[in-house]
Amino acid sequence: MSSNASQAGLLSGADPPRHVAIIMDGNGRWAKKRLLNRVKGHEKGAETVRTIVRAAGELGIKVLTLYAFSTENWQRPAGEIKALMALLKKFLIKEEPDLLKNNIRLGTIGQLARLPDDARATIEQVKTTTAKNDGLLLNLALSYGGRTEIVEMVQAIAAKTAAGALTPEHIDEKTVTDHLYTSGLPDPDLMIRTSGEMRISNFLLWQLAYSELYITPTLWPDFTSEEFIGIIREYQQRERRFGKVDPA
Ligand code: IPE
Ligand code: IPE
Ligand code: MG
Repeated sequence: MSSNASQAGLLSGADPPRHVAIIMDGNGRWAKKRLLNRVKGHEKGAETVRTIVRAAGELGIKVLTLYAFSTENWQRPAGEIKALMALLKKFLIKEEPDLLKNNIRLGTIGQLARLPDDARATIEQVKTTTAKNDGLLLNLALSYGGRTEIVEMVQAIAAKTAAGALTPEHIDEKTVTDHLYTSGLPDPDLMIRTSGEMRISNFLLWQLAYSELYITPTLWPDFTSEEFIGIIREYQQRERRFGKVDPA
């Protein structure tokens, strides 16, 4: 563990998670409680993103996947979608210097082609400028749906099979893993969902097979680095058995 990680309050002697995935939920409820427009909740939520990205980097986490916009979220009112896309672009432009300074690389998973051109161009630009960073990978799930990801994986494998580059009996779990958006990344060790809903909402359906889950009632705009560190410490005390028996 890095000295930063122990300074930040993680337990020594237990590995911190390599990959943390978060369903950032509750922006709308946060705004509603204050009689504000939902967009104000998303704006406050973007500040939480900044805080948690910084904390994850300091804790020595290698991959932070944040569920920012789902395939189902396209069914929200046009005004809210527009505001979310504008906020995404604004966030990336504002954060780019800090990402560079903190050795953070930007990645994405999802159907980027569905995003507005200007948001997509900003993403591509920040991906390029941060491409050589080898600290934290900030992996944004944008227009992401786990079922769509699986459909695209099946299409890619079927195309290779039809072309004779793959034979059906050689398709195994690694083949599947290698054809998902997350190809090359470890599966999430820990998946956190804020604002209390007991569901995964089409997030990382294959990759979450053996992730530890943590659901907090805290609304995303109220989520703090202290709570985040507390959850990681709790994770460090769990026993991951992967179906085997306790070695002790
Ligand atoms: C999460 O907050 C942000 C996105 C899904 C884009 P919500 O907007 O879902 O907030 P609630 O669930 O309505 O409180
Ligand atoms: C999941 O939250 C998607 C994101 C956080 C981007 P939602 O608020 O869209 O999910 P449901 O509607 O509670 O399933
Ligand atoms: Mg929600």
